[in-house]
Amino acid sequence: MSSASLWFKSCAPRQNATSQLGKFAHLLKWKNYKETILDAGCGEGSITKEILYPVVKNHSKKILSVDKSEVMINFAKKHNQVDHIDYQVMDVMDQAQVTKAANQFDHVFAIHLAQWIPNTRTLMTGFHKMLKADGQIFVLSFADLFLTHAFRKQFQEGKWRKYLPTDPVFADYTSKPTQYIERLLNDIGFRLEGCNHEVQMLYEENFTDFLRSCMSMYVYFARLPAELQEEYFEDILKLCHQSCNYLGPPDKYEMYYEPFTFVATKIK
Ligand SMILES: C[S@@+](CC[C@H](N)C(=O)[O-])C[C@H]1O[C@@H](n2cnc3c(N)ncnc32)[C@H](O)[C@@H]1O
Repeated sequence: MSSASLWFKSCAPRQNATSQLGKFAHLLKWKNYKETILDAGCGEGSITKEILYPVVKNHSKKILSVDKSEVMINFAKKHNQVDHIDYQVMDVMDQAQVTKAANQFDHVFAIHLAQWIPNTRTLMTGFHKMLKADGQIFVLSFADLFLTHAFRKQFQEGKWRKYLPTDPVFADYTSKPTQYIERLLNDIGFRLEGCNHEVQMLYEENFTDFLRSCMSMYVYFARLPAELQEEYFEDILKLCHQSCNYLGPPDKYEMYYEPFTFVATKIK
């Protein structure tokens, strides 16, 4: 089964997106009902269609939903295509593509994308460039989660060290995420409207499948020799089991998350 269909079936991302958009969408300011919206890192499109679109539908006729993975975009077009969403392949870290989209959007949403991009400054600078004057970002990321613990332990154990670089896997918002992001965003030319960092437990019915879809976003996983990928996956799964709570058969687990959500306005 493809990473897109595994993600499509996951429940934790939906629980989290519903909860965070519900709590913080009121920080968004709308100018009219024809706003241009970019949904960066849309994945297989179900959260865009079922959770994001209802929040923006009175303010915008269309969402441009982009993802760097062609597999995700093809899945989205096949399973989550509706008139008001346009799915396209785009890498939001590619400066040529960002420059082409400069000054085009009133709002940029990034749901469950930013934690996978270690260079937060480049990501936020790209969003700033693609926004029109007074445009806003809504970023739903994670300051920490069960997977970072597993990756850390896995690296300490050393078994896979010769195959994997020491590059950070996740964004590091420091031990004071709110102060860190406010300073960074101010520096780039944003005003922070609101920021929330909390601790949550989310559950996943089919934890192994969910983890497989997460691993498809870890760039170095695909670069491991093919014959070792399953063994690596089993090792990471074991470490994740140690930091999650088993809830019951067949494969239901409760996972630790620190959702980190912020809304900011482009001011210069
Ligand atoms: C965890 S998924 C989130 C998908 C969707 N927003 C959701 O919440 O279900 C993160 C997505 O970001 C995409 N992604 C990662 N880096 C990206 C980049 N530089 N540009 C565009 N998409 C990217 C991945 O391909 C993946 O589909």
